[in-house]
Amino acid sequence: MQKQRKKIARLIAGAAVALAAVSLAPMGIAMAGEDGAKKAPSQAAVEQHSDDISAKIVGGTEAEKGEFPWMVRLSMGCGGALFEKDVVLTAAHCVDGSGPNDSITATGGVVDLEDSDKVEVKSTEVLQAPGYDGKGKDWALIKLAEPIDQETLPIAEDDSNNKGDFTIAGWGADKEGGEQQQKMLKAEVPFVDDATCKGAYSELVEKEELCAGFMDKGEIDSCQGDSGGPMFRKTEGGEFIQVGIVSWGEGCARPGKPGVYTEVSTFAADIKKAAADLG
Ligand code: ARG
Repeated sequence: MQKQRKKIARLIAGAAVALAAVSLAPMGIAMAGEDGAKKAPSQAAVEQHSDDISAKIVGGTEAEKGEFPWMVRLSMGCGGALFEKDVVLTAAHCVDGSGPNDSITATGGVVDLEDSDKVEVKSTEVLQAPGYDGKGKDWALIKLAEPIDQETLPIAEDDSNNKGDFTIAGWGADKEGGEQQQKMLKAEVPFVDDATCKGAYSELVEKEELCAGFMDKGEIDSCQGDSGGPMFRKTEGGEFIQVGIVSWGEGCARPGKPGVYTEVSTFAADIKKAAADLG
């Protein structure tokens, strides 16, 4: 209840600047094979303005099978990344709080959600970022009943990779108001500095959020249903590292309105400790 009020408050705050196009709600989806899909009240509200809202990776291309092995699709309509083989890092706004939870299914090992090679594993426990109240701190961990045997994605532990171009990927909408995707899309978006992003979004929490996108043209962005999925890049050593978690934005791929991502390095120590505590 409390949480819904906050979501709605957040939506209203967004609406003031943005015709109700900002939503932290996971996408309510009805794709074959995805259970537990639900539509958050704030999402329903957003959809009333359906000609100016966003929804998947916009301006992307199909990922190759095995290209991003850590990617998982979550049954509530979010993305995630394997932090451990049996722990998924996603967004706090994709889950309903902390505690034992067997209601989420994680699908891994595929690009195409209908591919018979897919591995589906249930959750056992969820840890939502302590103190999460709808503003910043948008991370959560999901413990899986069994490991998914795929490569994991290490997280950035300092801000040295908060620059350059990032890769985003997911099964979310391919345009504002668009459908969830059966095949994972990917795209590249450049870093946007805090001052510029604050100019676009006065509510930005600079220490906890990181922005990316094409300020001038828009066109390429994450979108509804990509939430919780990773934003990553290669380090100088050539290893992929996760720098962000898809969190929110006004619409999708609008000029002047970059995507906002959880700043992973800020929470790296908390995430590691929480994962260890999940056992
Ligand atoms: N909150 C959205 C979700 O649940 C993610 C929106 C990302 N928006 C953006 N313009 N980058 O899927």
